[in-house]
Amino acid sequence: MAARPRQESRHSNSQGLGKDLLAISAMSPQAIALLLEFARKLKALRRRGARYQPLGGMTLGLLFEKPSTRTRVSFETGMHQLGGQSLFLSLDNIQLSRGETIADTAAVLSRYLDALVVRTFDHTIVEDWARHATIPVINGLTDLCHPCQALSDLLTIQERKGRLKGVKLAYVGDGNNVANSLIEAAAKTGMAISVGCPGDHRPDQGVLDQAREDAARTGATIEVTDQPQVAVKDADVVYTDVWVSMGHEREQDHLLKVLAPYQLNERLLKGAKPDALVMHCLPAHRGQEITAGALDGPQSVILDQAENRLHMQKAILVELLKPRTKGKRS
Ligand code: CP
Ligand code: NVA
Repeated sequence: MAARPRQESRHSNSQGLGKDLLAISAMSPQAIALLLEFARKLKALRRRGARYQPLGGMTLGLLFEKPSTRTRVSFETGMHQLGGQSLFLSLDNIQLSRGETIADTAAVLSRYLDALVVRTFDHTIVEDWARHATIPVINGLTDLCHPCQALSDLLTIQERKGRLKGVKLAYVGDGNNVANSLIEAAAKTGMAISVGCPGDHRPDQGVLDQAREDAARTGATIEVTDQPQVAVKDADVVYTDVWVSMGHEREQDHLLKVLAPYQLNERLLKGAKPDALVMHCLPAHRGQEITAGALDGPQSVILDQAENRLHMQKAILVELLKPRTKGKRS
């Protein structure tokens, strides 16, 4: 992936989230800590069956250019649980597919909706949406990053390990969007991240450069190696993701070949700590990036990860929509 310039949010400040949530790189450690605390509270409320509906009368739009199970369902369900409603916008059925611009569509949707989740290809597209929308825009995955996934994963790691600072997270496989967001998340929270990937499938250089600057402030460490055994050594968490990300189908044969030595299997897992968590954002391909034994074994926390998407994204929605809730209650 090409190097990207350092990203600065126009809107972020030391405590709050700012207008949009596009990348973890633009968030402050304090904002991440607050989201984690809030997500834990929302999860506890849900467990107790308590109603919490601060987003009554509000509508979340979801505009997805790629398939999704978890992101779509957790955002739609989360918005409903918070008292609001959601609207899934299929690209085929809106005028964007007939050449209406993002600028016009974003401006119009801002008059109807209260927030918009966008899943797309190039990261500059979600930045365009955010620039032209007056409502909050949330990145539901781009080719560059998947911030909602990594923020939810922080919640899972914190729940299981009791802390984030100093926890070693090993990521093995393709240095893709999920890897990029995990690097950013680790850098902001003082974790030790080690990425084991082939030399030509490293994480984004711009992401690494900024993460190293953040790491200097938080005490995080960031390692990239082409030796998966080095990456997983004494790890508290071992994470992998698909070898063929959405939009990369044409590279499938090459990817399956070069990534084969990076499979997360029982042998590789032996190099990590005995109580290491096995993580995968899903969807998974058993027999490719991970064996069934590792994915479905006792160390796996994949369903907690999937569930925590709901709680974390509810926290994100409430935080982003907080300034807009006045006068919106139905
Ligand atoms: N992990 C994740 O984002 O899953 P979906 O593609 O199903 O949304
Ligand atoms: N890296 C994967 C993540 C899917 C949730 C992809 O972009 O397809």
